[in-house]
Amino acid sequence: MGSIGMASQETEIAALSETLRNCLPQKGSNDTYNREQLKDVAERLSVALETPGETCQRVAYYPLRTTIVRIATRLNILNILVNNDGPVSGKELSQKTGADHLLLIRLMRFLVAMHVVGEAGVDSYVATNITRHLTIPKLEAGIKHTYDLICMSVMQLDPFLARTGYKNPTDPKKCPFQDALQTEDSLFEWFPKHPEYLSDFNLYMTGQRDGRANWLDFFPFEEQLVKGFEGGNDAVMLVDVGGARGHEVENIKTRYPHLPGRFILQDLPETVKQALDVNGMEVMGYDFFTPQPINGARAYYLRNVMHDWPDSKCQEILSQIKLAMKPGYSRILLNELVLPDKGMSLTAAQLDIAMMAELAATERTERQWRELIISVGLKTEKIWTKVFEEESIIELVLE
Ligand SMILES: C[S@@+](CC[C@H](N)C(=O)[O-])C[C@H]1O[C@@H](n2cnc3c(N)ncnc32)[C@H](O)[C@@H]1O
Repeated sequence: MGSIGMASQETEIAALSETLRNCLPQKGSNDTYNREQLKDVAERLSVALETPGETCQRVAYYPLRTTIVRIATRLNILNILVNNDGPVSGKELSQKTGADHLLLIRLMRFLVAMHVVGEAGVDSYVATNITRHLTIPKLEAGIKHTYDLICMSVMQLDPFLARTGYKNPTDPKKCPFQDALQTEDSLFEWFPKHPEYLSDFNLYMTGQRDGRANWLDFFPFEEQLVKGFEGGNDAVMLVDVGGARGHEVENIKTRYPHLPGRFILQDLPETVKQALDVNGMEVMGYDFFTPQPINGARAYYLRNVMHDWPDSKCQEILSQIKLAMKPGYSRILLNELVLPDKGMSLTAAQLDIAMMAELAATERTERQWRELIISVGLKTEKIWTKVFEEESIIELVLE
């Protein structure tokens, strides 16, 4: 611990240790703990315990972690460990992957140090829970997408912003993504030409919010939509606009198997080719910058779509839906993060920067959402939010 500010650092460590103790359930009590709060205090305590030099190392060396995990994924190291009953030696890994033994020793010690794999002995490795998590196909696809496209774009952010005079990026065809991938296409134009990446992205979308709030836990679907639903099974209950493979329709149908009405998945033609086989889900190739073909649906649901676009493009997408809405009946549900003005989580802040680098897009605060919504002549009926998370449903109606 450095000498400057040592007393205040020690006071902070003592205070955080006390808070941590208070966050834990009392011995013998049936109290549950608040995971988010506990994580936050533990993280702040860990940072407070660092020396200034350690803080510098941690901040400066972050990119190494994603890089080494990506190499491990490419060499299939994590799957080899998970699929083996006992420990695997470096030599065996070398035989199975074709990589140099010495190189593997160097990669493996990094993976051990960041708790991605366990160490059973000298040059002997075992899978841990984290190793297993990272081999779940939708999360493994996330590592590939995040490293190959997002991290590569973020690495271009510094030269890009310097070159463009530190203006907030707003053109999806002129952002760090084009520099990183040496293309003139925006991400969604590039995907159909790179099917392997499109498949990874679609798979990743099914797990992108894994472990976080499920919107059906805090949005009363039956109360808000089923009540007041007009028409029988011919009428449309919900259109999942830009719904990728339809995993959110699947989510709704699993939770409420007996809902009336039609459920329609819309996305770009190449994407809906990979749609899931969900009982009762209709699939439609559709570009959301063109007129919305489904008129008068009870709900138009868009999850993680707005955060892919700058305001001008969001206005176009919402305007197309607005024209199809039935007054006093239809609503738009935006399933997005609503950022606080202060004290944002790292998860939300990093997603915001990822959107900037990959798509010249943005996450939004409540004020930004309200301004955007008013600008297209829609009204915010209510913002439903899970306590302690930014995950929200913004419910919109015609003015
Ligand atoms: C971030 S993903 C979100 C997917 C899904 N809603 C979810 O939350 O997992 C954005 C989706 O918008 C789709 N998309 C992009 N441009 C589109 C367009 N012009 N018309 C329709 N869908 C589009 C993409 O194919 C992708 O599936």
